[in-house]
Amino acid sequence: MGDNQNLGQEDSQSNPGEEKKEMKTSTTPRSLADVASNRTRKEPGTNPLGSGLEARGVHAWFGSKHALKDVTLDFAAGTVTSLIGPSGCGKSTFLRTLNRMHEFIPTAALAGEVLLGGKDIYASGTDVTKIRLRIGMVFQKPNPFPSMTIGQNVLSGLKLAQIKAPNTDDLLQECLERAGLWSEVKDRLNEHASALSGGQQQRLCIARSLAVRPEVLLMDEPCSALDPGSTFRIEETISHLAKTMTIVIVTHNMQQAARVSDYSAFLLSDGGPGELIESAPTSELFSRPRDKRTEDYVTGRFG
Ligand SMILES: Nc1ncnc2c1ncn2[C@@H]1O[C@H](COP(=O)(O)OP(=O)(O)O)[C@@H](O)[C@H]1O
Ligand SMILES: [Mg+2]
Repeated sequence: MGDNQNLGQEDSQSNPGEEKKEMKTSTTPRSLADVASNRTRKEPGTNPLGSGLEARGVHAWFGSKHALKDVTLDFAAGTVTSLIGPSGCGKSTFLRTLNRMHEFIPTAALAGEVLLGGKDIYASGTDVTKIRLRIGMVFQKPNPFPSMTIGQNVLSGLKLAQIKAPNTDDLLQECLERAGLWSEVKDRLNEHASALSGGQQQRLCIARSLAVRPEVLLMDEPCSALDPGSTFRIEETISHLAKTMTIVIVTHNMQQAARVSDYSAFLLSDGGPGELIESAPTSELFSRPRDKRTEDYVTGRFG
């Protein structure tokens, strides 16, 4: 359904103590292409972070159901890429193939390669746990551990991965700062995570994923359960994080794709498996889509 403009959903757990910032969107409507071309796009190959992530001919199945067909897409290091497309076209499935979470599903099968720093994460002998540390994930619904404190949540990944950090206080502060949450929680580190608003919980989940120092962060509709103010905070966080890592974000919100991403990729399922229809710099995808189906989707004719 037409949920492209779902920015204004209520944050069910909004906290009166959380300062709400105004969205930067102006009252005069601007085209998506204007919004997208307003940001400075990062060029691939110009970033010292390495070669990023590359999907090569990725197919995914659930049992006999072919869910994703032959997706080849590069995510250059230090860039933000939006995955867009109607519900059910395989965005989440594709995201899960990028850090080997797809195989958690019992009936799941996969073909193709995903290269991280030039090496296939599916090559035999690969340590799957290490891959999931290098490629972190944030989900639609904030999922902090409710019985842990804010501080314990941030550091929980270290324990699971048996990583020893020399100074956990510094790491805690660094992760919360990078996630844009430090100033709001620095005096509340021993409170339970459940005391935070939905938007704060989502930034806490981002801080938690940063603690193991991933190179790539996958985000599956991270703002779809949040109010506009919290959404704005997450978008600011994404922009800061992209200076030091590669980000792939699934979003139903075209304005968000235009605001946060350097590149966008449009996926579509036409009854069969989801396929990549086109990918391009975001400003190009919104101003001069090559495929009629992309144009129809980004202009809100379906989806
Ligand atoms: N665990 C699963 N078992 C079986 N089919 C699934 C499962 N997860 C997703 N699918 C199917 O795979 C297709 C792609 O789903 P999904 O990746 O969730 O799409 P999107 O994120 O774009 O909405 C859909 O047809 C969906 O029904
Ligand atoms: Mg999904």
